[in-house]
Amino acid sequence: MSEKQLIRGVERVPTAAAPSEPSEPSGGPQPSGGPQAVDLTEIPETALWTLYQRAVEARRPDALLRDPQAVELVERIDYPFAERFGTSAVQAQVQALRVGCFDHEVADFLVREPRGTVVCLGDGLETQFWRVDNGRAQWLSVDLPEAIALRERLLPPGPRQRYLAADVTDLAWTEEVDRSHGVLLVAEGLLMYLQPAQVRALIAGCAERFPGGSLILDSVPHWFSRLTVEGKMRTRGYQAPAMPWGMDAGERAKLRTASPAVAAVRDVRPSGGRGLVGALLPLALTLPPLSTRRPSVTVLEFAEQP
Ligand SMILES: C[S@@+](CC[C@H](N)C(=O)[O-])C[C@H]1O[C@@H](n2cnc3c(N)ncnc32)[C@H](O)[C@@H]1O
Repeated sequence: MSEKQLIRGVERVPTAAAPSEPSEPSGGPQPSGGPQAVDLTEIPETALWTLYQRAVEARRPDALLRDPQAVELVERIDYPFAERFGTSAVQAQVQALRVGCFDHEVADFLVREPRGTVVCLGDGLETQFWRVDNGRAQWLSVDLPEAIALRERLLPPGPRQRYLAADVTDLAWTEEVDRSHGVLLVAEGLLMYLQPAQVRALIAGCAERFPGGSLILDSVPHWFSRLTVEGKMRTRGYQAPAMPWGMDAGERAKLRTASPAVAAVRDVRPSGGRGLVGALLPLALTLPPLSTRRPSVTVLEFAEQP
């Protein structure tokens, strides 16, 4: 391995240049070449699903999400997105509302900690950096080797971005995080693919290693997790992989029991929305049983002293 170093299960991808002061524009990834082949399968392939949903929404004139990089990536990647995943404006809008929750929390963090570190666990082909970067923060993307290799090729890291090929359940990646200006961990579309015991260990490990930091995560409810485990979440062209970790929205307080270092748990609710989705959202968020058994986005705040 010439340019990369393997550190206890963590493959470090060098950045384009050393971080520079005081601020740099985020710019955008440099497009290279023609159609790009991809060979992601199983869980890493789900990164193409979320990318596609963002692009479908972002293409609309009345989009809830501005994400030109996602649109451009979907055009560049040689992959039968529509045939494989189907195209649903409702699904894309729901995903955009979820992404909006994450973007909002990251943007808030960057106001509090302009030079902080945003650690994106299971980052896939997320383009959040280009949506919310402030020109000063540090960004660390962690994902499995095949996903990081693709991200490196399609979204080459800029001066304030680093990519690590690692399994997030091996906490060696935590040693790579710059803690000097505050840390926000982002687990968007990730934890449902882990085993429940792995989720608890990851939360506990992060809470203990990042005092004063926080973790934003999303979860699918138990009924949805069960359908995926039984192989029943499929369309004509695609079967979603098993999502063994489910959590009902009403159970989120239990996340505190992962570690005494988890000081607070907070629900992040989407707002806005178009048409039927927009009309039903306030009901889905307040009326049981849907309100307690819906997909949810949660922030965990870690104690200053573990
Ligand atoms: C649904 S995608 C989400 C990608 C991105 N966060 C987004 O929202 O577009 C799930 C991502 O988690 C990654 N992933 C799953 N298990 C992982 C693990 N144990 N360690 C690191 N990454 C993992 C997959 O490779 C994939 O990129």
